[in-house]
Amino acid sequence: MNPPVSSGRAPGKVILFGEHAVVYGYPAIAVPVSQVQALALAEGGPAGQGIVVHAPDLDRHVVVRDAAAGDPLASIVRLAIEAIHAAPDPDLTVTVRSTIPVARGMGSGAAVSTAIVRALAGYFHHWLTSQAISDLVYQTEVLYHGTPSGIDNTVVAFEKPVFFVRDVTREVFWVGRPFLLAVADTGIESPTREVVGDLRRRHVAEPARYRSLFEEAGSIAVEARAAIARGGVEELGGLMDRNHALLRQMGVSCPELDRLVGAAHEGGASGAKLSGAGWGGNMIALVTEESRSRVELMLRLAGAVSVLVTEVS
Ligand code: MEV
Repeated sequence: MNPPVSSGRAPGKVILFGEHAVVYGYPAIAVPVSQVQALALAEGGPAGQGIVVHAPDLDRHVVVRDAAAGDPLASIVRLAIEAIHAAPDPDLTVTVRSTIPVARGMGSGAAVSTAIVRALAGYFHHWLTSQAISDLVYQTEVLYHGTPSGIDNTVVAFEKPVFFVRDVTREVFWVGRPFLLAVADTGIESPTREVVGDLRRRHVAEPARYRSLFEEAGSIAVEARAAIARGGVEELGGLMDRNHALLRQMGVSCPELDRLVGAAHEGGASGAKLSGAGWGGNMIALVTEESRSRVELMLRLAGAVSVLVTEVS
């Protein structure tokens, strides 16, 4: 007997180091943000309805059998149903709720897809590893973002800090000493596909210039990973600042992000950078219990529409 309701959850995420460079095969680090979550509930529906996905927070209502091949919500349902060997198009309603801001570099698409896979796997009593879920979700990330590196689906499915090199390694790694990040939203959509595409065109025009920026970002990620593992939290602020300077040179920051980075420093953060694709979305700042409220205030005064503080552990 299938349970009357099965639920699946997934957290948001931020990229700590190495966004964009990671698309070109350089190392990056991402961490889950559990204060924001996607939740999916799968329950039996009326006979003959097939699978319906109802996602009010995303303003979507999708009848899977009628949806276009490129629809990301229908696509993750079809992929999950195939992976768990359920009969095609069972009568199910999948309700999705999410508190992860959309198009802000916080992994909303990957988290919604992960939550749906978990809810469906639970409904059909099927066990999927985190890696299997991540691989399924990657296929829908392609629909959302075009040429994703795979770091978002990995960190969201594993729900742990990950050190990631595209097609080479995805390591969940040890945090020697927990630390706090303030995550501040510019309120501006970050159009990942466009930013990545724009940078790709500039990289094609000037490969040597961009390769050296990517290489430096990658080596910062390697340094940061060692510092995080040995509890060298003091080293991270400077590394974040260096990474933000590189992202500016890559052309993916914007005045609003730079303003928030400056405000975080004024408030006492020991480092700050944009996080995710850029041109909007979120920035992150390294804070302590002592500095967090002043940093939050300065961020809000500088225009942040929301600020949350998350522990990386
Ligand atoms: C998006 O969260 C991070 C980027 O590096 C794109 C990707 O890794 O696919 C900008």
